[in-house]
Amino acid sequence: MNPHSDIEKILVDEKTILNRIDEMAAQINTEYADEDNIIIVSILKGAFMFTSDLVKRLTVPHIVDFMALSTYGEKSEASGEVRVIMDLRHPVQNQHVLIVEDIFDTGLTLQFLERILQSRNVASLKKCVLTQKEGRENPSLNIDYLGFTIPDVWVVGYGLDYADKHRTLPYIAELKQEVYL
Ligand code: PRP
Repeated sequence: MNPHSDIEKILVDEKTILNRIDEMAAQINTEYADEDNIIIVSILKGAFMFTSDLVKRLTVPHIVDFMALSTYGEKSEASGEVRVIMDLRHPVQNQHVLIVEDIFDTGLTLQFLERILQSRNVASLKKCVLTQKEGRENPSLNIDYLGFTIPDVWVVGYGLDYADKHRTLPYIAELKQEVYL
């Protein structure tokens, strides 16, 4: 079946994504210019495409590490539970860590990550997030580098999925309601 038939409309096209990543990478390169090394912590699966395009544009010394997380239960602040499926390979103590995430939806994942990485005594911790749903801003969970604010609809593509499908579309799109209702 053609995956494109599940798409309502494209919200952010490929060129716009890559142009924004150019800008985000430039900002990161400037702000970390004095550091010897940063550890990019990419959150699987959703962040794999964003991470790939972002790190190609980094000129500051860095290594890339991955963490896979899974959410159980209803994804709400109250009942959602995040678990580590695969942990980092590298120790992060005294390291400058930059989390790379595809989306801030409820914020539960980032909140969880921030807590566990801070407990490992990192030298610094920042968050680089490609998309945030409109109206989800959370003053206690500041995003240091944000790509786009997107409408509060089901989005797929560029790493984002519906039941693991449509992740590899090169753009961010709204899923047709009939697919998930
Ligand atoms: C998605 C996404 C983020 C998280 C954001 O991951 O990739 O990691 O949800 O949502 P939140 O702000 O409500 O926590 P998901 O758990 O669906 O796993 P996946 O990345 O493997 O698709």
